[in-house]
Formats: sequence, C-alpha cells, structure tokens
Amino acid sequence: MTTVIPAPVSRVDGPGTFTLTSSATVGGDTVTAGYAAEVLGLAVSGDPTIDLALAASPAPGGYSLEITSGGIRAEADTAAGLFLAVQSLRQLLPADQATGVTSAELPITRIDDHPRFHYRGAMLDVARHFFPVDAVKKYIDDIALLKLNHLHLHLTDDQGWRIHIDSWPELTRAGATTEIGGRGGGFYSKDDYREIVLYAASRFITIVPEIDLPGHTNAASVAYPELSDVPVEPYEGIEVGFSSLAIRSETTYRFVDDVIREIAGLTPGPYLHLGGDESLSTTDDDFLYFIQRATAIAARYGKTLIGWHEMGRSTALPAGTIGQYWSFTTPQEGAAEHTLSFVRQGGQIIMSPADVAYLDIKYDDATELGLVWANGPTSVADSYDWDPAAIIPGIGDEQLLGVEAPLWSETTATIGDVEYLAFPRIASIAEIAWSPAGKRDAVEFRQRLDRFVQLLDALGIHHGGVA
Ligand code: ACM
Repeated sequence: MTTVIPAPVSRVDGPGTFTLTSSATVGGDTVTAGYAAEVLGLAVSGDPTIDLALAASPAPGGYSLEITSGGIRAEADTAAGLFLAVQSLRQLLPADQATGVTSAELPITRIDDHPRFHYRGAMLDVARHFFPVDAVKKYIDDIALLKLNHLHLHLTDDQGWRIHIDSWPELTRAGATTEIGGRGGGFYSKDDYREIVLYAASRFITIVPEIDLPGHTNAASVAYPELSDVPVEPYEGIEVGFSSLAIRSETTYRFVDDVIREIAGLTPGPYLHLGGDESLSTTDDDFLYFIQRATAIAARYGKTLIGWHEMGRSTALPAGTIGQYWSFTTPQEGAAEHTLSFVRQGGQIIMSPADVAYLDIKYDDATELGLVWANGPTSVADSYDWDPAAIIPGIGDEQLLGVEAPLWSETTATIGDVEYLAFPRIASIAEIAWSPAGKRDAVEFRQRLDRFVQLLDALGIHHGGVA
C-alpha cells in the first residue's frame, strides 16, 4: 500500500492498478510538467500519460489527482497546486521508482486535497553553522516533498552575519568569519541570496528572511563596535542572551533602516522576520523602545513583519504583525499573553512549540547530533502528538497563519546532519500543518512513515529512523 504524507483530505481507491512505464510522458502546465518530467525521469509531450491541467479548483490552495486505468490527471487552479499534486504522485510510486520510472504499479485512486493552513514552514539557522547555496537548495527540495511552502532563513546571530549588506560591508567582511566549530563561517552575496529565492520559487516555496534584533547581534557588533554599548569579541559558542544593540544610539536606527531596506529589496515574498527573542541583555524599557522604532522603520518597506512571541510584549506593533510562538505545548510564563498581543493588534500566529516542533533536539539520549532542551529529547511520536489550535485559549484555526518547524544549527555542520535531525519529525509537522485534525491518527501515521523513510532513502535524504 503506497501512501501520502501529509494525509490528504480525501482519498478514494478503486479496484486494480495502473502501470506507469518509462515510455509514459508528462504534459499540461509547462512549468510543472517540466519539473515532474525531471524528477520522474520521463519525457514531456503534448499527449501526456500524466496530464497536469490548470482548471477550476474546488478549494483554495488545493488540487485533485486521479489515477485511472487510462492514465493520470491532476487539476488545480494554479501551478503551485499542480506542483503539490506531483508531490503526492511521487509518494504514490514504489520507492525504487521515485527517482526514475521504469515500471511502476500505481493504485487506482482519486485524491481531493487542500491545506488546513496557508503557512507551512521550515526554518534553517544558517548563522550558527553556515550552509552554502547548494545545501540550502537541497533542503528546499527536501521540504517541497512534504508540501511545505515557506523556508525561514535565520540569517544573523551572535555566531555570524550571513547576508551581504552594501551599506554596511563589514557585516560580512568581519562578521561572517565565525561559526560554531571554528570552520571559518561564510555568507551569501546578494546574488547567492537571489539564487536561493529563485530556486525556492521554482518549488513554490517563499523565502522568509530573518534579521534577529536587538539581541543575537554579537556578530554585527564585532563588525561595527559602535552598534553595542559594551565591547564585544567574536563568538563561536552556544550560549544565548548576552548581546544587545545600543538601544539609545541613533547609529543603531540608521543600521536597522539600511539593513531592512536592502533585505526587503532582495525579497519578493511578503514577509520579513525581525526576531525579538531572548533579548536578555536589553532592559524592558529599552526593548519596548527598540521594538516600536525598529518595527515602524521596517513597516515602511512594505513587508508584513514577523516576530518571535516576545515581540508581543510591545503594544505598539504595526497592525497585522505576525507572531511566532516558540514556547511549549503548555505555555510558559508570559508566552500566551505575548502571543495573544499579536492577535489583538490584528496579526495572526505561526505555531512552533519548541517541545514538539523544534528539530534541533535529540530524538533520544543516544542520538549523536542535537541538544537536549525544551523538555527534550523529542521522539517522532512526540512531534506528532499535538495540535496548534489547542495550545492557547483564544488562538484557534482562524487566528493561525500556520505552523513551522525550526532547526537551530548548534550541532549540524552539514545539510546531511540537518536532514538527520529534521526527517522524519518534519513529516509530523507537515501533516499537522496540512491535514484536517480529524484525519490524523498516530498509529496509522507510524505505518505511513515506514514507507516514507524508504522514499527518503531512495531520494538520498538522511533521516533519524522512525522509532
Ligand atoms: C528561539 O528559540 N530563541 C526563538
């Protein structure tokens, strides 16, 4: 039995199978047909076996996929929807056929599907360890398989500044040479970043850049000491909460304006993440002063802002600012209140509860990579056993923009390490973000995962196993 993760809204199987062979062709919408032909190892034709058809779609963001004895037809009202249908088709293939079809038995079936949430994300921390462009592209392909549609890049932190800013060139000349492990760091040129954005767009994934302010800024202050009230040293450790921008200095706001303007100019997507977490070296008054000024500056550049939930301490956010919740499934002190503050100010919430959705935590005490924090270790079963609408009273489906699985890179030096911690727990998060809550079943999910990891093996995606 071949299966799909995340579980579709509706799947009705008929009797029998359809055999897809290497002489099959793909056609219809040219963009997605080209992609499907490439991943399946098939040719494109005008009279296709696999027809990817733009047509009226019954549900926003959705698609249908029908496999009959005569062929395969997907319908959606956008190319993005057809791309999602192709991901379901890839998962319906036997694992050994997923990278090149020779002869594959497919079930006769009809899938009608659409997402529960618009925002289905992963976050990659490229600051604590730097990941080159090709590595990020690999992760983009990996997460596309699960119908995730946003990749949040945590571009700056104490350990390194990873994106070139023309007006503050020392950020990458002096602020990018450090990382955990002392391997020399790295950064994205503006062309590198554009290449990532374009590649992500080819997978219908929106890049969400994060410039984390006003804490997590040691690397910025190494590059420009005037950005800090206290002397700083390059940092390659794993502590948090020790750095802050100089809150009462006008230089800081010139820096914020320049950086945000340049990042907004590079970013076609609607979102810009300004961090705001763990500013433990900034006084309460200074934090509120900074958030009000920095978010007002950022709002001028036409993006919808996102902040970690601590940003909700401010009641002066630009209307519609999105909050990203990273406390636990049982909220810790203040977290629920700070998160509700975004809703009161007209924004929605992205749920990333650290005890179940953070991918940097060990699976169990024996896991070689990862850290143990946020109530960890976090098993695959733990990552599946929660619902984003059941964490904070007053925050249900309507208040939720979506769900994101962050990965902090303290222990991950390569994208293979990232994959090992992310997969398969990121499949749990993708299903929570996509599938109707009533469709979710932990026992049945575990069975689908057995098959899914065979597909990961076939596709060369590292994983930590299903236990
Ligand atoms: C966070 O984990 N500091 C957002």
